[in-house]
Amino acid sequence: MPSCQEDMPWVLKERVKDAGTLSAMDWVEPKGSAVAYRLTVLGTGYLGATHAACMAELGFEVLGLDVDPAKVARLQAGDLPIHEPGLEEILRRNLANGRLRFTTSYEEAAAFGDVHFVCVGTPQKKGEYAADVSYLDAVIDSLAPHLTRECLVVGKSTVPVGTAQRLADKLTRLAPVGEGAELAWNPEFLREGFAVEDTLHPDRIVLGVRSEKPEKIMREIYTSMLDSGTPLVVTDYPTAELVKVAANAFLATKISFINAMAEVCEASHADVRQLSLALSYDDRIGGRFLNPGLGFGGGCLPKDIRAFMARAGELGADQALTFLREVDAINMRRRARMVDLARELTGGSFTGCRLAVLGAAFKPNSDDIRDSPALDVAVNIRRQGGRVTVYDPVAQENARRAHPELNYGDSALDAARDAHVVLLLTEWQEFVDLDPEELGAVVASRKIVDGRNALDAETWRAAGWHYRALGRP
Ligand code: UDX
Repeated sequence: MPSCQEDMPWVLKERVKDAGTLSAMDWVEPKGSAVAYRLTVLGTGYLGATHAACMAELGFEVLGLDVDPAKVARLQAGDLPIHEPGLEEILRRNLANGRLRFTTSYEEAAAFGDVHFVCVGTPQKKGEYAADVSYLDAVIDSLAPHLTRECLVVGKSTVPVGTAQRLADKLTRLAPVGEGAELAWNPEFLREGFAVEDTLHPDRIVLGVRSEKPEKIMREIYTSMLDSGTPLVVTDYPTAELVKVAANAFLATKISFINAMAEVCEASHADVRQLSLALSYDDRIGGRFLNPGLGFGGGCLPKDIRAFMARAGELGADQALTFLREVDAINMRRRARMVDLARELTGGSFTGCRLAVLGAAFKPNSDDIRDSPALDVAVNIRRQGGRVTVYDPVAQENARRAHPELNYGDSALDAARDAHVVLLLTEWQEFVDLDPEELGAVVASRKIVDGRNALDAETWRAAGWHYRALGRP
């Protein structure tokens, strides 16, 4: 317990003032952190559910809020609505030890929290490139009128630059405590499939602030990470907002760069996998995000580069980002090329042909099918007359709900039964480990397109398969 109020951070002084004295409940020592701030996490989708559970795991008392009562009920019951390795155990452990709860009430969240993390989505607007930030506005509109004591609101969502300043002004205007409700921007860089690792051991922490107080609080909250050497970049709002979209734009560019090389390799009978390997030995380039194939999808990279272009346009800096249009175009061309390659293998037409699509998630270790290149290809082949059977070890049910028109198999072998061509479109380990003989025994003809350059071509060719891959002879 702190020995005197002078040493206490302002939020705890406030709580002492409110409650008369600190109770045992108020002072749960978080692991590696000096201060027992109570945290709320507003929006418990992919990012919020992970952040809430991981902050509780660090020892904080956390209240997660979502406007969807069904989602809150599932989370409160320890039933994680998304597939994320390791997260459900953390959720259940912290529900059981009482550090984590969920609610739909903003009033309760405002009363509970010293620090409110905003984790709602910013999807692409329908028919436009720009991001829809209305969920963020809804959070501030709902939370601020209940803020009667000093607190910090921390935005984690990916936003168009300029959003934080606007929300900070709105927060001060709507909160009864006025300037006592401050805003900080702390973008999240987590990858699906590694969300727990990325949240508990991030490779950097970026913090956009307008004054020193939020920085002090955030340093206390992230003490364990900072103590283990995680770099912290403290900056202003616009820079913090831009770091996130710039990072995603860079990653998307790297993927599209190697996929553009794949196009040139296809035209010149070169091998993009060997090209990528050779490039990766240059330390300045590095090998990560240089895997050629079907390209990027998911809930972040595609919509983030589009929203970035839209925002640059509004700011009169559109020329700076016209290259992202090409990055997007290269990425979408890979999907079209995959369909063409599959059609080549069915003799120029899909009519009457059965194709097995292995993978529906936008990447392995995820059940996320948002802007999934695999499903996009499956749907297009079906539209062109092919009989498509999909199998995904985890994203199958999400895929079935979104695309009931496709057929689904119970396993990779089941989906491949009597197929004229097999397409590997999401590189789940179980597909990489497939035995070419076993698969060969169920298909109608041994033809495979490796959309992720994940298989060993020689092994498959040796087993009598006609093996094709994007960007390779
Ligand atoms: C991404 C960013 O990596 C993360 O930092 C950010 O916070 C959110 O967006 P995520 O969407 O989970 O994370 O997926 P990521 O692992 O980045 O993969 C994105 C897509 O690129 C996937 O479809 C993947 O298959 C594809 N990809 C990735 C490639 O095609 N080639 C590569 O070399 C790497």
